Amino acid sequence: MTGPVAIIFGGSKGIGAATARILAQEGYAIMVVARNGSDGEILAETLRGGGLTVKAMACDIAILDQVAVVITQTISAFGQLDVVINSAGVMDPIAMVDESDAEEWGRCITINLTGSFHIFRAALPHLKAQKSGVIINLSSGASSNPLKGWSAYCTAKAGLVMLTRCVSAEVSDQNIRIYNFQPGMVNTELTRSALAHKINRIAEELDPTDFDPPEVAAGAIAWLCRARPRDLMGEEVILTDPEFRKRITMTEGKTDEA
Ligand SMILES: NC(=O)c1ccc[n+]([C@@H]2O[C@H](COP(=O)([O-])OP(=O)(O)OC[C@H]3O[C@@H](n4cnc5c(N)ncnc54)[C@H](OP(=O)(O)O)[C@@H]3O)[C@@H](O)[C@H]2O)c1
Repeated sequence: MTGPVAIIFGGSKGIGAATARILAQEGYAIMVVARNGSDGEILAETLRGGGLTVKAMACDIAILDQVAVVITQTISAFGQLDVVINSAGVMDPIAMVDESDAEEWGRCITINLTGSFHIFRAALPHLKAQKSGVIINLSSGASSNPLKGWSAYCTAKAGLVMLTRCVSAEVSDQNIRIYNFQPGMVNTELTRSALAHKINRIAEELDPTDFDPPEVAAGAIAWLCRARPRDLMGEEVILTDPEFRKRITMTEGKTDEA
């Protein structure tokens, strides 16, 4: 393989699937990853039908060994690893803290936060060895806005902000770029199902059909992979920030902006 290679955890649906489509069309070889392997395989088959290079694997990011297998099998299938997108995430349980099921609450943290650690843990040794790479985590405005009934999700995303900053500090001198990306509100299965519970002001006031389609966020993620901005390393990159949108427009088509 000569083109770049990307793994997309959570690549079977929503923002991850849209990112898989865009990066594959840009010439990346893609590994689509989700717990439900058949969803990933259906997307991979469709994209392969269009002449693109896409494979799929089943993996639960809550389990480090499964994540490690995805990383090594991707490198063995495609020869290298350039980009890792972490778009795997869940919102449940949606419940007030004093009514939450403790196991479900912990599971949300294990997927959204510990799962992100697993991806860093398994991918970084390879990126360090090749002295390059980009890792993008899907963050959320929920990381800094407390919302009734979403405590597990908000807490996990807040933890992800600090995890990303810590990892960024560890690798900043090694040509590896790490970002947290906030996509704004996007019309996906995750938001449609979460907003059906009218538990807080977001769910009461907003309608997912008014949100951006996943392709808007995916386009910005593809830009981050190309531009690799040094000054945003470890930061919350916020799609709704007008300055960020302007920067995308002004530098479209260029690589390695910084
Ligand atoms: N949509 C929004 O408005 C929004 C806003 C802010 C942040 N985000 C973040 O963006 C990311 C993607 O969200 P989305 O809206 O695109 O969600 P989505 O449509 O529900 O897609 C989530 C993807 O993650 C996979 N996944 C879930 N748990 C997993 C696990 N334990 N291991 C591996 N894969 C797993 C799902 O497949 P399986 O179920 O088969 O595993 C699916 O492919 C999430 O981190 C979310 O928090 C979304």
